[in-house]
Amino acid sequence: MKVEKEQALRVHRQRFGREGRCFAAPARVNLIGEHTDYTGGFVMPMAIDFQTVAVVSARADGRAVFYSANYDEESGFEIGSLTRQPGGGWSDYPAGVLWSLREEGVAVGGFNMSLAGNVPLGAGLSSSASVEVATAMALLGHARVVLPLEKVATLCRRAENEYVGAKSGIMDQFAVAGCVANRAMLLDCRSLEYDLLPLPDEVRVVICNSMVKHSVATGGYGDRSDEVMAGQAVLRQEKGIELLRDATLEDLEACKGKMTAASFARCKHIITENGRVLEAREALLKGDLERFGVLMVEAHASMRDDFEASCPEVDTLVEIAMRQAGCFGARITGGGFGGCTVNVVGAERAEEFVEAVRREYAAATGIADAQCFVCEPSDGALALLAKGGAE
Ligand code: GLA
Repeated sequence: MKVEKEQALRVHRQRFGREGRCFAAPARVNLIGEHTDYTGGFVMPMAIDFQTVAVVSARADGRAVFYSANYDEESGFEIGSLTRQPGGGWSDYPAGVLWSLREEGVAVGGFNMSLAGNVPLGAGLSSSASVEVATAMALLGHARVVLPLEKVATLCRRAENEYVGAKSGIMDQFAVAGCVANRAMLLDCRSLEYDLLPLPDEVRVVICNSMVKHSVATGGYGDRSDEVMAGQAVLRQEKGIELLRDATLEDLEACKGKMTAASFARCKHIITENGRVLEAREALLKGDLERFGVLMVEAHASMRDDFEASCPEVDTLVEIAMRQAGCFGARITGGGFGGCTVNVVGAERAEEFVEAVRREYAAATGIADAQCFVCEPSDGALALLAKGGAE
């Protein structure tokens, strides 16, 4: 499901009358480790075969002009006068990356950029990180600057946190920039060290979209993050524990009286989830798919009951999935409050699984157009660039 490169170059030529250079970034799905990233914990995402493509060409007047093929809209301004003034639309994401690059000291001359993508929006598959990283790769290419993975990811996160105003962690930008085909990434969100774990040939990763829209920039994500941070602050004050990632359930229990019931439950999810991610890593390395699946189902229950970030439709999707032959595990993926489930399914059963889940979900909820698909563990933006030049 790559965006057609020739088509993207043609759109750029028609719009701006110039040849551009083409850069791409994928989407991601998270196998396990939800809401652990912004408290220094562990996550296990992989890049998937949806893409944002950014085509860039130079212009002489010192302006930045972004064109979104998806929205058929243009947004332009003097680069020198760019301040942190989000307007609330799609262009905040690329403009935020430009702002962040400039904060980083990267000199970016005038440019045209056309963006096109096929990442489902509001599905918890990181459409925003995909746009951010594609933009960053194109602007770095334009500025003839090379930055390491950590820098690309952190500056894109900064764009989202400080320019767009969403409280997200580092997982999405890091995965979208740094994943490698046929591997899941085990990322330590404190040190940014990571392992690339092979995915067993005998399974497929299937994504099912509940079609209930989710957004990181608005809604429950920010509330949950506030509740988590309040709990973490208590642990810091009472126990000297800097990040939730270092807390045990006993530490949390000892602080129970000092925090709200909501903060307690959210922190409990995070502490148990970090344990599950590390166990899932071992299970994957041993090829123990049964255990991996059990951990996914436990992770879903924890997101539903302790983190309270699922919704009835997504719970239904997980229940339907777990009734299917060949399904090892299923859980909500991404920020929550809608979006997709991620499912690990025996390779020979995957197509059957897709059909059955779609049919049973429609019967249970009346939502007949749910997208379910077998996805491809794909290259992140840096690997794409390394393999294809300015691709
Ligand atoms: C969103 C955020 C990530 C992460 C997940 C939940 O995708 O952008 O940083 O917090 O939600 O795991």
